[in-house]
Amino acid sequence: MSGGFSLSDALPANNNPNPSAPPAQGWPWGMQPPAPGAFPAYPGPPGTFPPAAPGMYPGVPGAYPGGAGPYPGAPGAFPAAAAGPGAYPAPGQPLSGPGFGTPHPQGGPAPPMKVPFELPLQAGLVPRLLITITGTVNPNANRFSLDFKKGSDIAFHFNPRFREDNKKVIVCNSMFGSNWGREERTAPRFPFEAGKPFKLQILCEVDHFKVAVNDAHLLQYSFREKKLNEITKLCIAGDITLTSVVPTMI
Ligand code: GAL
Repeated sequence: MSGGFSLSDALPANNNPNPSAPPAQGWPWGMQPPAPGAFPAYPGPPGTFPPAAPGMYPGVPGAYPGGAGPYPGAPGAFPAAAAGPGAYPAPGQPLSGPGFGTPHPQGGPAPPMKVPFELPLQAGLVPRLLITITGTVNPNANRFSLDFKKGSDIAFHFNPRFREDNKKVIVCNSMFGSNWGREERTAPRFPFEAGKPFKLQILCEVDHFKVAVNDAHLLQYSFREKKLNEITKLCIAGDITLTSVVPTMI
């Protein structure tokens, strides 16, 4: 897993037969930490995330490089026009304002945000939209979930369960017309801990979502709902406190 990463590894459709397996080439959110000491310092205040999870890239909320690094020359290189100009913050420009939290505020921790939380996605999903969520798992948590919604359908349900038959498991699924589909339970590990802070990132790719936790790739989920522009809401619910929810284009 020490191969380099190039734009072409990240973007084209990739029919990975095992969606939870790490991609052959690796990708840019910390799957292969370099030698100790090689990380740039995490840009946030000390203690915001577990010390074992430094961001690999400076700039936007932790894991992604904005226009630098593996995506050189990003401006103009995107298919981002699909979202319409200005629909989402440009690389390196997280959305801010009421309700979005402040990942690294000057002068103290951000106030917790209300849960359940709903993030409207004006232009729907679009490849290269990255959503970075920071928060803390409640003590004695049972479950929490992210739901990317198209009306009342759920295009992508990401659901860590802390005690299902005394086991921890991540369940991914979709719901169409009030019916849940086939569950995907193939996450190779369970990176959340009761009482601990986390950073959860969802990257919308061309035909799947990628999910990373604390800068390490966790799983991917192939789109079942393909009308990305109609997936216009992210709902976050369950046994967590939320610190920030920041969409950016990478
Ligand atoms: C159900 C559960 C839902 C959702 C779904 C996913 O059992 O009640 O909240 O998690 O599984 O398949």
